[in-house]
Formats: sequence, C-alpha cells, structure tokens
Amino acid sequence: MTSMTSAPSATTDTTPIADDTERAREPMIWVNGQMLPKSQAAVSVFDHGLLYGDGIFEGIRVYNGKIFKLGQHMDRLYQCADKIFLDIGVSREEMIDIQRKCVEANGIKNGYIRLVVTRGEGSLGLNPYQCPKAGVICIADTIALFTPEMYESGMRVVLAHRPKTPIACLDPRIKTLNYLNNIMAKCEAIHLSQKLGITDPKDQLLEVIMLSTDGKVSEGSGDNIFVIKDGKIYTPPSDVGILEGITRRFVKDELCPMLGYSVEEKLFGIEDVYNADEVFLTGSAAEMIAVREVLTHDNLEVTGTHTISEGEGPITNALRTKFREIVTSDNVPED
Ligand SMILES: Cc1ncc(COP(=O)(O)O)c(C=O)c1O
Repeated sequence: MTSMTSAPSATTDTTPIADDTERAREPMIWVNGQMLPKSQAAVSVFDHGLLYGDGIFEGIRVYNGKIFKLGQHMDRLYQCADKIFLDIGVSREEMIDIQRKCVEANGIKNGYIRLVVTRGEGSLGLNPYQCPKAGVICIADTIALFTPEMYESGMRVVLAHRPKTPIACLDPRIKTLNYLNNIMAKCEAIHLSQKLGITDPKDQLLEVIMLSTDGKVSEGSGDNIFVIKDGKIYTPPSDVGILEGITRRFVKDELCPMLGYSVEEKLFGIEDVYNADEVFLTGSAAEMIAVREVLTHDNLEVTGTHTISEGEGPITNALRTKFREIVTSDNVPED
C-alpha cells in the first residue's frame, strides 16, 4: 500500500442515486417506429445487429426527469454512425423525441436509457449495404452494475489478462455493438470471484482494468479510469484506445475545475495504479465508484493483491459528492 486515505466522512451520503421508477404495468419499448409492450418488442433474426454485432449504442442516465448530457450522447451516437458508414435514418430531433417518449411512457424519474441503432435487416452475408434500413431501439429502464456496498466502501477489481482491442483493429472510441472484448475481460473478474467463493457484496469482483496491447492502462470493461497521486488527477488519453466517456468528460472538464483539482491526460502503466493514492471509475451506468484494491491473477490463481486505499479516498469522495449534488438538483445538465 502506498498511501493510506481516510474513509468518507459519516455525514456524506455515499449511496448511488436510487432508480426510483415505479412500474405500474409492462415496460414500453420503442422498436423500429413503434412503442410496444416489452413482451411484443422484437427485432428480426436477420438484423445485422444480432447476426454480426453491426451497430452502435448509447447508455444514458436520467436524473430527476432530465436526460443527463443528452446533447453529448447525441453527438457521440451520430459521430459513431458516420465512422461505421451507418445512416441512422432518424434525425437528431426525432431521436431526442423518442427518448423523451420512452422516459415518459415508463414513468422514469431516475433511470437509464439504452439507445441502440442496428444495421437493420439484411441477407446472411456481412455486406452492410444489403441492409436497407437501420433499426432503432430505445429502452428506458433502471440499471445497477455494482452493489450499493461497493459505492460506499470502494470496489476490488481485477487486472485483465486480455488486452483491449487495438485502435487499428476496431477503434474503441466507436461505441459499437461488438462488446465481446470487454465481456470476456469482465468474465475474468467474475470467474475469479466465483473461484474464490466471494459472497460479501462489497468484496465481489465485477470489474477489470484493461491494458492496451503495449501495456498501458486503458479503461474498465464498461467505464473509464482515473488515478490520483499527490493531489493531481490523471486519466489515460483517448488514443490509448478507450471509449471517450461522457461521464469522464464531465468529471474532467466540469467537476474537477469546480473543486479546483487539476486533471491531466497521460499514458501510464499498471504500477501507477498500484502506487496511486486513489483510483476511481466513471461511466453512465457505473456513475463514479472508487477502486480500493486490484488483484492480479494467472489462470484464475491470485498472484497479487494491491491495496490502493482503505475505502473511498477523500478526493474521490469530494468529486462524487459534487456529482451527486448536481444530478439530484433541479439543474441536471442536458447539454
Ligand atoms: C468501454 C467503456 N468505457 C467507458 C464507458 C463510460 O462512458 P460514458 O461515461 O459515456 O457512459 C463505457 C460506457 O458504457 C464503456 O462501455
């Protein structure tokens, strides 16, 4: 352990924002131009999103009835579509309207939107140009990636063996429906947790740190990473091969300046994670969560345990408290 940091103060509410959706009836899903009950919402088995993972998606938080950073999510969605030569066929305004309708139809006040654009129905070959119309799906629901105990105590994560898909193969900045690289990495943590028989909700292993093929820290399976050393905050640059997270940007460009912390994008290795004073992850689904320990393994045998902090460190706690303050206010940013 390189530095001992104190646990959050007893006065700080460290629990994640509760998803307080009350379901009176079956969830309503937007699928290809129609709002349908979940039991009837379906796509064709010839949709290339299903056949090949050919498509893109967004995961977006709803806080206090507002769609958090909606503008930035729309920018990313349409930019990603361009990068895979996908004509969404629905304007940005219509897409926003679809999301608001889904939020309303499902009575979501605090929850999560999953927006999926698939290549659409086509023939059995790979050729995307044989799919005349993109598929658009919008689900407004709730999500819980990690246990509430982990938000309070910080989580343990695993260093993944599997490296991140390099930019030259498939740029991780494109939020495609191809998530198997991340899923297989996440399985390393889940399988290790199972093998060790961990049942305590705060100790479970559900997330990994992934390295680039040349050994630099990239991100988690579904979140970005920040490290804090001597009061300074660092996060890997996007060209190491990461998704340019919207929560990452919010923390880096808004929360940190608000609280007077400097943030630098720089390449670093796993030793810098082990030696950090604090580490945390960010994502629309994960929100902000501290990492208190990193385990290494070889073929699911633990080879090392690196304690970073005892619980959530003070800077992470200050940032998360500010985050919470903003997303529970009447001014949840939709920009
Ligand atoms: C691989 C990966 N990295 C980072 C993130 C965080 O991005 P955002 O903050 O935009 O949700 C996600 C979110 O889904 C992700 O899948």
